[in-house]
Amino acid sequence: MNYNKKSVEDVDVRGKRVLCRCDFNVPTKEGKITSDKRIVAALPTINYLREHGARVILCSHMGKPKNGFDPALSLQVVAQRLSELLGAEVKMSKDVAGEDSKRLAAELKDGEVMLLENTRFEKGETKNDPALSKALADLADLFVNDAFGSAHRAHSSTAGVAEHLPAVCGYLIAKEVGIMGKALADPERPFVAILGGAKVSDKLNVINNLLEKVDTLIIGGGMAYTFLAAKGYSVGSSLLDNEKIDYCREMMQKAEQKGVKLLLPIDTVVAKAFPDPIDGPIEVHTVAADAIPADCMGLDIGEKTRELFAAAAKSAKTVVWNGPMGVFENPVLAKGTIAVAQALADSEAVTIVGGGDSAAACEQLGFADRITHISTGGGASLEFLEGLELPGIACLQDK
Ligand code: 3PG
Repeated sequence: MNYNKKSVEDVDVRGKRVLCRCDFNVPTKEGKITSDKRIVAALPTINYLREHGARVILCSHMGKPKNGFDPALSLQVVAQRLSELLGAEVKMSKDVAGEDSKRLAAELKDGEVMLLENTRFEKGETKNDPALSKALADLADLFVNDAFGSAHRAHSSTAGVAEHLPAVCGYLIAKEVGIMGKALADPERPFVAILGGAKVSDKLNVINNLLEKVDTLIIGGGMAYTFLAAKGYSVGSSLLDNEKIDYCREMMQKAEQKGVKLLLPIDTVVAKAFPDPIDGPIEVHTVAADAIPADCMGLDIGEKTRELFAAAAKSAKTVVWNGPMGVFENPVLAKGTIAVAQALADSEAVTIVGGGDSAAACEQLGFADRITHISTGGGASLEFLEGLELPGIACLQDK
């Protein structure tokens, strides 16, 4: 896929109505935003558009509303936070591409900003409904996509609208694609990828694609137990994806053929049962990876594995990490994930953390500013690592 796309700097935005798709799908609790990271990440593009005299019509989805308008998923909270961050009023429309949006868009002056209501309040959004795409396009003269976190969705506001308007990317998409694209296409070596998370089945194609590119592939987290089973070890009551054991064997063979070093846990922290509640007290001990007792489950990587993985990360020139090493929500079982985050923070390498739980871990631990790039995309960054075409980027004009 060609990621060399035109950006806001390649088009004249002055006096134009610019529909700018952002990913404002931010976490909230009791009506309050708990992390405004995605809003902050959209500011460079919004500021550029304002400073260059565009009339900015922002849009985004939030959550997964099922039946039209849902006050709990209104973007009103985002409009408020954005107004504070920009130091300027952000007008909020009551609908997505209806009469209120049209009126507000028509009234916008150069440099002013408005936000449409949650695009998923329209049923057509997730179906990439041509009528909704056209209605969105009719609000504007130009489309800017800056929603990297939603770029893997072929929805009306992420891709469909680009059929009707000149379409370019914003700074966030350019940055995400620039850093991750370079790491995959032309990495400084040694290139080490660290994958974790619960299920092998979620990362099948990521593993396959990364084996084409990396020097070392590290597998931790719940998915490691299926690999250990593929080596012939018994894994007790650990998470096991029985149907994927053969696949793991194939991947181990592929690694060998390609000369890729595949690192699996050599020891593991086990308990008799999964913690309930997840952050509740738990009794654990550490065993060798080939000696997991039948009545125990592995819930984190052990100390020797932490050292092994950290050493590999520290000696790399490029590291990509996606997925926790254990049940990191529980402080007793978070040591593996913390060790990997620490190793990335201490490393001189280009370090890239692909969204979701591993990004949250780096942020909670206060390591965020010692990591080269933390992606704002969860699913999108995984699909990027899989080498898939992202519809929200494919639809933009090539340079
Ligand atoms: C995300 O949070 O990963 C993006 O905003 C996409 O959200 P979605 O999975 O609901 O499409």
